[in-house]
Amino acid sequence: ESSWIDAASEAEVPDDDVIGLQVGEHNIALYKVDGSVFATDNICTHGHARLCDGFLDGHEIECPLHQGKFDVRNGSPTCAPVTEPLKCYPVRIAGGRVFLQMD
Ligand code: FES
Repeated sequence: ESSWIDAASEAEVPDDDVIGLQVGEHNIALYKVDGSVFATDNICTHGHARLCDGFLDGHEIECPLHQGKFDVRNGSPTCAPVTEPLKCYPVRIAGGRVFLQMD
């Protein structure tokens, strides 16, 4: 049993950019790359920094605090000092809304 949460309007997520939003108790980052939306936890796994304040380059988000990087498609660390993967959430777009599978 999975639950899909209506998190945002698709139009709220700018192209090739990142926004942060609160979804229930989760602080989520939403990214749009080449028209596709991806969702991860917004807090870096290295320290307390919000990835929505970082820099998105292609599918890589750079943390604003120590410039670690993650692949937003799967949460993999791609640049030191981050080593722990970032939690990702499956995304479904329907009726112009972004739904996230939260568990
Ligand atoms: Fe993100 Fe250090 S807090 S790289």
